[in-house]
Amino acid sequence: MSRKYLNDRWCVRCPKTTPTPYLKENLKHFPPHGRVLDIGCGNGRNTKFMASKGYNVIAVDMAPPDFGVAMVLGEDDLTAHGVFDIVIANYVLMFLNKGERNLVMDQIDQVTKVGGILTVELYAAKDAYECSIEEVSSFFFQRGWQKIRLSKEKCVLVKER
Ligand SMILES: C[S@@+](CC[C@H](N)C(=O)[O-])C[C@H]1O[C@@H](n2cnc3c(N)ncnc32)[C@H](O)[C@@H]1O
Repeated sequence: MSRKYLNDRWCVRCPKTTPTPYLKENLKHFPPHGRVLDIGCGNGRNTKFMASKGYNVIAVDMAPPDFGVAMVLGEDDLTAHGVFDIVIANYVLMFLNKGERNLVMDQIDQVTKVGGILTVELYAAKDAYECSIEEVSSFFFQRGWQKIRLSKEKCVLVKER
């Protein structure tokens, strides 16, 4: 299955222009300033929101973004962009197969500063890979991250060490 297929079939950009409510409601848990990495940024609705709050945001997506950096998660190296205070992975991890996902989650762990935040939202996209919030959170718990919030398809985690 080619990347083009993945992109055309599954990864149509979310038409919404407002940030996800979960991101807004969890802002209070985030470091008040710093660098943000928005992976699979789509049309940049969350990127723009975080930039409007004063964060310095790097956005990456394999679909040519209007702004930000063209990058294929699971193939390209996220660590090339430095370290971050907050990583946003909204509606993207289930488009990566298990191997790609583990690679990307390892890269997220590497690029997040101690005390930094990861926020993840998943949804049951048609034909997406199987990916649960338990799988994602367990990966990070094994590396010393802690839960701030965890529900069926969403989590906010903090890197404690
Ligand atoms: C459902 S959209 C979500 C967009 C955005 N995060 C949001 O919440 O509006 C999924 C995005 O992930 C991107 N994507 C999927 N697989 C990717 C990969 N392997 N590398 C980079 N971007 C990917 C798609 O191009 C698409 O823009």
